[in-house]
Amino acid sequence: MIFKDCRRLLQVCGGDIIRKALKQKTQSSCSPWRCCHRLISGKPLDPEMRAFLEENTEVVNSGNLTPEIRLRLLTPHCRFWHDKTTLWPYGDPYWAIYWPGGQGLARYLLDNPKVVHRKSILDLGSGCGATAIAAMMSGASQVVANDIDPVAGAAMMLNCELNNVNPFPVITENLIGTKLEGWDLIVLGDMFYSEDLADSLHQWLKKHTIISGTKVLIGDPGRPHFVTHQIQRELHKVSEYCLPEATRQENYGSATTAVWHYQP
Ligand SMILES: C[S@@+](CC[C@H](N)C(=O)[O-])C[C@H]1O[C@@H](n2cnc3c(N)ncnc32)[C@H](O)[C@@H]1O
Repeated sequence: MIFKDCRRLLQVCGGDIIRKALKQKTQSSCSPWRCCHRLISGKPLDPEMRAFLEENTEVVNSGNLTPEIRLRLLTPHCRFWHDKTTLWPYGDPYWAIYWPGGQGLARYLLDNPKVVHRKSILDLGSGCGATAIAAMMSGASQVVANDIDPVAGAAMMLNCELNNVNPFPVITENLIGTKLEGWDLIVLGDMFYSEDLADSLHQWLKKHTIISGTKVLIGDPGRPHFVTHQIQRELHKVSEYCLPEATRQENYGSATTAVWHYQP
């Protein structure tokens, strides 16, 4: 079952996909607005990709913390859920899961629109795009999603349509380590799931936050590489949520998720 494969990859392999991504050559300085060659926006979704995603996902708005957002996800009703995983033509579909970290962040932004109202938001590791969609719904002036998986970008476009929000740009560059400019807020949902990734994110966020003053919010259900990381000393918890039963079951019993303000 492809869904379990994703989680096993996270738990056992410690995120090989992420490590591979981090080895990619990154630009030394990158303003998101200049990374246009890897930016998915403003053009219609490839019809074949649209058909594939529509056929192999289910529209869901329950079992998570944000019933007001509809999302195309992989569920037990999808043909790739139980078998045929070898026929799945793309990389592991992390985007097809609405992770607890992203759920907490999206809930927080919907309940506290002032945090994003008229602000520019970067959602790093956006996955299904729910946190970015929540920022749009709460009145952000500019939202950009970033995910190294181009299929995630396509899924986000469908999810924008489902929620009647204007599609936002999706950058598929690996931005970690690059110089970013112009963001009021960076949000990261469930991105601290391997030691390497946690270290890289911490170093990068620290440098970026100190230089630019950008606010950073992190959503995480208490993954081992997050709770044991030195970043903990620089976090202030802003909100905590009980996870719905369906999300608990998908996440090995995690009962809560929290939103943290990163303040180095
Ligand atoms: C655990 S999922 C979290 C998705 C979403 N934030 C949520 O909470 O539902 C991690 C996502 O980060 C993406 N990702 C991994 N490494 C990345 C990187 N270096 N830059 C941007 N996205 C990355 C993956 O493709 C995946 O969609």
